Amino acid sequence: MPKQPISQNIPKHVAIIMDGNGRWAQARGKSRTAGHRAGVDSVRAVVETATQKGIQALTLFAFSSENWRRPKSEVSVLFDLFLITLQREVRKLCDNNIRLRIIGDISAFPEKLQRRMSEVEQETANNNGLWLQIAANYGGRWDMAQAARQLAEQVAQGKLDPQAIDEQKLAEASVLAGSPDVDLLIRTGGELRISNFLLWHSAYAELYFTPTLWPDFDAQAFNVALLDFAQRQRRFGKTGEQVQVA
Ligand code: IPE
Ligand code: IPE
Ligand code: MG
Repeated sequence: MPKQPISQNIPKHVAIIMDGNGRWAQARGKSRTAGHRAGVDSVRAVVETATQKGIQALTLFAFSSENWRRPKSEVSVLFDLFLITLQREVRKLCDNNIRLRIIGDISAFPEKLQRRMSEVEQETANNNGLWLQIAANYGGRWDMAQAARQLAEQVAQGKLDPQAIDEQKLAEASVLAGSPDVDLLIRTGGELRISNFLLWHSAYAELYFTPTLWPDFDAQAFNVALLDFAQRQRRFGKTGEQVQVA
């Protein structure tokens, strides 16, 4: 079983749109690639903090379905960086009882990277601490389309009654099956948009936007976001009074 949050106000599931690497690098007269490299330190910092806080699931947007539109050279550097980081960090993931899951259509990635991703998933599969989900070639719309396809196939095979399709069935067919809904969605880099991230799972997420560029987002910045979350009143359709009584 995953660790329970230490306090009620700790989100179970935090998702982060890690944006601003390119601008961080450009501001320093460096290549965009240098920004992506620097961003890996921020990943380490948020993973460590999430572990310490007893957060159950952390989902990081590393590569979107739309990022294929970038120059080939940048895409290929991102793949190299994935591979190197996975090789380097797998030990630490195990030492910290972290389970890694890659969510997204990885079939489009270089084979070596696909293999490494599957290996690291297997190597960490028995860990029961933080559930770290890396969204790679992920899009919220893609996820829903593949979920609908799976359910349609079950209907076509006579295994599923269309009347039995409900929100739970769709959620179970999502690549995030088993993970709690997003409680806190953070976007760094100043843009005020979701960019096709976890559309279904963020239905009731608290949104936190910060101008801080991803490579500057450290443990302290993450703590500030968590404090902000802790002060929000989550009503889920109820009145403020009802929530206070409960
Ligand atoms: C986010 O940083 C990283 C990825 C999308 C892979 P960007 O590369 O989008 O940085 P900006 O938005 O250009 O600054
Ligand atoms: C979103 O960042 C995707 C990731 C962080 C991986 P982008 O920089 O690609 O988002 P847009 O296209 O500016 O919305
Ligand atoms: Mg960007």
